[in-house]
Amino acid sequence: MQMDNKVVMVTGGAGGLGEGIAKVLAQRGADVAVCDIDLDGARVIANDLAQRGRKARAYWMDVTNRARLQETVDAILADFGRIDVLVNVAGVIAAAGFEDTVTSREADWDVTFTVNVKGTVLASEVVAEHMIGRGAGKIVNIASHAGRGGGAGGGAYGASKAAVIHLTQSFALQLAPHNINVNVVCPGTIWTPMWERIAERNRRNDPQKADLTGRQIFDQAILERCPLQREQTPEDIGKAVAFFASDDAFNITGQSLNVNGGTRMN
Ligand SMILES: NC(=O)c1ccc[n+]([C@@H]2O[C@H](COP(=O)([O-])OP(=O)(O)OC[C@H]3O[C@@H](n4cnc5c(N)ncnc54)[C@H](O)[C@@H]3O)[C@@H](O)[C@H]2O)c1
Repeated sequence: MQMDNKVVMVTGGAGGLGEGIAKVLAQRGADVAVCDIDLDGARVIANDLAQRGRKARAYWMDVTNRARLQETVDAILADFGRIDVLVNVAGVIAAAGFEDTVTSREADWDVTFTVNVKGTVLASEVVAEHMIGRGAGKIVNIASHAGRGGGAGGGAYGASKAAVIHLTQSFALQLAPHNINVNVVCPGTIWTPMWERIAERNRRNDPQKADLTGRQIFDQAILERCPLQREQTPEDIGKAVAFFASDDAFNITGQSLNVNGGTRMN
């Protein structure tokens, strides 16, 4: 599971899961291009990795814009020489105002499918072009256990993540002749800015949670739904990504791996 001198591009790398994934891969020897629409946040992470002795650089990137994606990938190739691994982490839970709603609105369908699905497709297509030229590469997508089955009110987000699992299989088939493995990690419940929004939504819409803090709502969710009774961390997800990105996963493609403490087993 070593990543020695592999060049990894992480989208959504400015915080949350992206930060944890970037750190785990760097600890295992990878050099990292940290990409995000939040350039300041990406710089903080890249500086941290550089201080730990890895080559790391921050890039502004909007995964929903093919032309800008291509520019950023060109810049990464100029700086690092190649991309061995793409990790598609950039994602959104919903549009603004999500905290006051209980069901998905049209704006939620638009933004989740644009960022989570189209963004994963565009980043994969642009980077795969480079990987095809090299005859090697690994793509690791981040979906969610929410993509494994329906949930009341979570329609747009869960459906977008089901689409990511589906398109992982399509890309795996399409890119297999080029020696490119494509897999997906389905994280469970992780305390990040995204989950802070989910907790706030629960607090506003459930009178029984009105007096709880976001963190208390999160802790309650873990106890209620997670058989292992513990939260997952960005580093847990990083370790699963490291496996798919490593040579140990040489013969694994098109697969989904739940990292959710047993919350969903399908
Ligand atoms: N937190 C969880 O419990 C959880 C569970 C399952 C799956 N996930 C998935 O993990 C990924 C990361 O989630 P998180 O919890 O760290 O969320 P987060 O909101 O903390 O981080 C998401 C990151 O993506 C970036 N981003 C958003 N839109 C972008 C765009 N168009 N282009 C480039 N970057 C963009 C944001 O700036 C941010 O840095 C998401 O795909 C999310 O759906 C999270």
